[in-house]
Amino acid sequence: MSQKTAVTPDTDRKHILEVSDLKVHFPIHGGLLLKQTGEVKAVDGVSFSMKPGETLGMVGESGCGKTTIGKALINLAPVTAGSIMFPGKDGTMTNIAGLNRSAMRPFRSRIQMVFQDPYSSLNPRMSVEAIVSEPLDIHLPELGRKEKREKVGWLLEKVGLRAAYASRYPHEFSGGQRQRIGLARALATNPAFIIADEPVSALDVSIQAQIINLLQALQDEFNLTYLFIAHDLSVVEHISDRIAVMYLGNMVELGTSGDVNRRPLHPYSRALMSAAPLPDPHKTRGERIILKGDVPSPLAKPSGCGFRTRCPIARPECADRVPELQEKAPGHFAACPYV
Ligand SMILES: Nc1ncnc2c1ncn2[C@@H]1O[C@H](COP(=O)(O)OP(=O)(O)OP(=O)(O)O)[C@@H](O)[C@H]1O
Ligand code: SF4
Ligand SMILES: [Mg+2]
Repeated sequence: MSQKTAVTPDTDRKHILEVSDLKVHFPIHGGLLLKQTGEVKAVDGVSFSMKPGETLGMVGESGCGKTTIGKALINLAPVTAGSIMFPGKDGTMTNIAGLNRSAMRPFRSRIQMVFQDPYSSLNPRMSVEAIVSEPLDIHLPELGRKEKREKVGWLLEKVGLRAAYASRYPHEFSGGQRQRIGLARALATNPAFIIADEPVSALDVSIQAQIINLLQALQDEFNLTYLFIAHDLSVVEHISDRIAVMYLGNMVELGTSGDVNRRPLHPYSRALMSAAPLPDPHKTRGERIILKGDVPSPLAKPSGCGFRTRCPIARPECADRVPELQEKAPGHFAACPYV
């Protein structure tokens, strides 16, 4: 049984993204005949929507399905069930879940993903010019060579690099500069929506703030919508309008950044917040909640509430049903009937 659809409160602005009951289950094959022996429920019924220009921070421990959600949005992970509504060029909301490559192309230019590891995400044999112009070749094939070169130079300057770097190769750059190159490539097709998958986790702390500031400046300039994925709450809390907390393929909490940080509701979010460092070392978030045990394998998810094996307030009924996200306060949702 999966988690039920959450309804995010609708206000004046239209959505740029509506994800409903999204599931990505990876079949596992074993034995001599490679029969299917099980499935990894990487994403197990996730629903949320986003407004244009918004930043949604998505946090949760390793393996809870964050990257898989991002990949499902751009068709790099197979969607088992659910829908992903995204506006086409004329603004009509279209279900892009599982579209084939050519049907996806007009949408793909408007949703881009920036990956965590700037060392492995850029092809070492391609020049910066080739890397940044690759999406242009696919989505704007009518551009001439000169125009393409100018656009690459312009993009490099937008991300704080010199246009002259276009002829260099990835190994000539630091991690932060490589992430800037990745951003230039993501921006090449004038996207409306960017999935930033832990864009600063692999960088030195001193460089992280520069990249975050750049992301914010680009968001303002190009009216970008961000799905910002992170392990670390302290990275997302300042730049996110809302925060979604993931646990074992489910969204367990969703609310404004202030609400989720200051008044986390779900027992898992409370533990996560209590462990997060505060910018001011003299302040504390209250008593630190240490969770017992490890996250169970998504191959063997507990029945009912996925968190029940570690939940400090679990009760027998928690094994019966997957709790749905309930609106506990205006705009603040948690997937636990007992908070
Ligand atoms: N192609 C695949 N085949 C099988 N299992 C997969 C595949 N991709 C991801 N998984 C599994 O799905 C689960 C979710 O993985 P995912 O990478 O989305 O997590 P994550 O939240 O991004 O973790 P991290 O914080 O470590 O990046 C994990 O158990 C992972 O092993
Ligand atoms: S449903 Fe039960 S196990 Fe799950 S978070 Fe709530 S109390 Fe804990
Ligand atoms: Mg990941």
